[in-house]
Amino acid sequence: MCGIVGYIGKKNALPIVIDGLKALEYRGYDSAGVALWDGVKIRFEKTAGRVSALESRLSRKSWSGKSAIAHTRWATHGKPSDRNAHPHADCQSGIFVVHNGIIENYAELREALIREGHSFLSETDTEILAHLFERPFLSAGQIFLEDAVLEGLRHVNGTFGLAVISKHDPEKIVVARRGSPIILGIGDGEYLVASDASAVVGITKNVIYLHDNEAAVLTPSKMEIFSTLGGSAFGGNLSKKTLQKPIDKIDWDISEAQKSGHPHFMRKEIFEGPSALENVLLGRLLEEGSAKLGGIVAVRDRLLQAKKIIISACGTSYYAGLVGKYYFEELAKIPASVEYASEFRYSNPVIDPDTVAIFVSQSGETADTLEALREAKKRGALTLGVVNVVGSTIARESDAGIYNHAGPEIGVASTKAFISQLGALVLLALFLGRERGAVSDVLGQKLVMELKALPAKMKKVLAGDAGVKKLAEKYSKYKNFLYLGRKYNFPVALEGALKLKEISYRHAEGYASGEMKHGPIALIDENFPTVALAPKDPVYEKILSNIQEIKARNGRVLAVATEGDEKIGKLADDVIFIPQTLEMLTPILSVIPLQLFAYHTAALLGLDVDKPRNLAKSVTVE
Ligand code: F6R
Repeated sequence: MCGIVGYIGKKNALPIVIDGLKALEYRGYDSAGVALWDGVKIRFEKTAGRVSALESRLSRKSWSGKSAIAHTRWATHGKPSDRNAHPHADCQSGIFVVHNGIIENYAELREALIREGHSFLSETDTEILAHLFERPFLSAGQIFLEDAVLEGLRHVNGTFGLAVISKHDPEKIVVARRGSPIILGIGDGEYLVASDASAVVGITKNVIYLHDNEAAVLTPSKMEIFSTLGGSAFGGNLSKKTLQKPIDKIDWDISEAQKSGHPHFMRKEIFEGPSALENVLLGRLLEEGSAKLGGIVAVRDRLLQAKKIIISACGTSYYAGLVGKYYFEELAKIPASVEYASEFRYSNPVIDPDTVAIFVSQSGETADTLEALREAKKRGALTLGVVNVVGSTIARESDAGIYNHAGPEIGVASTKAFISQLGALVLLALFLGRERGAVSDVLGQKLVMELKALPAKMKKVLAGDAGVKKLAEKYSKYKNFLYLGRKYNFPVALEGALKLKEISYRHAEGYASGEMKHGPIALIDENFPTVALAPKDPVYEKILSNIQEIKARNGRVLAVATEGDEKIGKLADDVIFIPQTLEMLTPILSVIPLQLFAYHTAALLGLDVDKPRNLAKSVTVE
């Protein structure tokens, strides 16, 4: 995800913010930039590529100044490029903004600002902010920068963590937060702002965490934090209420700070699952029980005529696709199949113009998925990408698509991306189902309501982490595992087994539970435990019978079941409970304990969780 750092104080701000950007590099980014107040004017430089490229451009200039803001960008709106890199400025290059988050109503705001005469240089949502903050200066003349920022933010839907400097009101940095982290650092005669503690710990351990709907003004001599008064924060009026907030002490080193205090990126990313789901849903759910997907508007008519859907992907993304098949058939009533991309590309697939081919890829660069996409295009399919990395090759080459907005995944084992892929696929299926008249108002509204409730339920599952760790301790002596699930939870069984094998090097097989008696049951004995997914859904009784069959053969069973299920505890050896939800959404909850179980097993075995042997994060070769 993007990174922000800013400094104001006695020292030269430029090297400090560049060091801050280097500390943020671990988050993944595609471009970097800086804006500096040198006492006379604002200087800025930005570039696609690494922080080192920015540094080498800056080395040819002898700039210095007491305040600066800087940014590493991970593209969301508009491809990675010099122009799209932050900071972004208004029409007169008088206000510079760095921003993390997503402005949902950016298209409407951009049009309105263009009608007012503003002109834009980039394709980003962030640039809107600079122009919104310019408007009060145009109409009111001399006002405080913080008031211009608050006035501008009144028009914004979506999320932001941002920092702003302006030549109209220099010697200060204004920051604000809604839905995207902002930390303020308090040094000796100096203040910092960052999106992540790792960018400030080199200078100070004293920090204040800004909460949603809070803003702050940093000057060389003081820092003022305030919340906005009135019903909706950043709305209504411009009055501010000054806050006294406690100073926290960070006792992490830089590597811990980069993982937000988690021992591994994988654990951090599992815990980011709820926000990954929130981000993929952000601005896309309609109260009337449907979905709004900007990335498919251009191909809407062709999409609605689809007679067949083929989903193609690799690994975890393929398993997300398997859940997607159920979504498309149940909600949109369109026949769907799922193919490994490595098979699809050589399988001589039957495709016609009424076929929609969906390619699911976190990285957007997986070689097999990319070649499958090219093959489908050659054969005349409408191609859609469900991709996390904006501007990646699969995103560029698909006819249309949906971005996950899950933020970069650093752990090699995919976790939060899987959650967000399920979110994107259910949104697309809901959209198709509603537009084709296959989903009723009532079902649509129920689904929308339940999707909104899901992040809180996910957090409840994550709160059981210590219990899962104990189970991992208990089961870590076993070398082989069977994972069983049925219908929506069959792909989750496959994913749970993949997670375990790839990071703990334990052998694990995922199976459709109904298939167990056709072979794998021969493996069952007291040394071959089964992880059984048994949420209360229409196939619950079936999986219960499978558990009985396993117990009859002395097999151990660790079950994932729905809260309030009293029956399962009498059968299974151990149970992890998940909250009740709609059947089709259970995978989003049931996968979490399996991710944690794999994580804790590998961590207990002392393995390199984030970089398992023989694996790469992005498989760009066939
Ligand atoms: C497993 C994992 C891989 C990827 C697969 C596809 O944890 O990460 O199986 O899911 O290599 O990668 P993407 O989604 O980038 O195409």
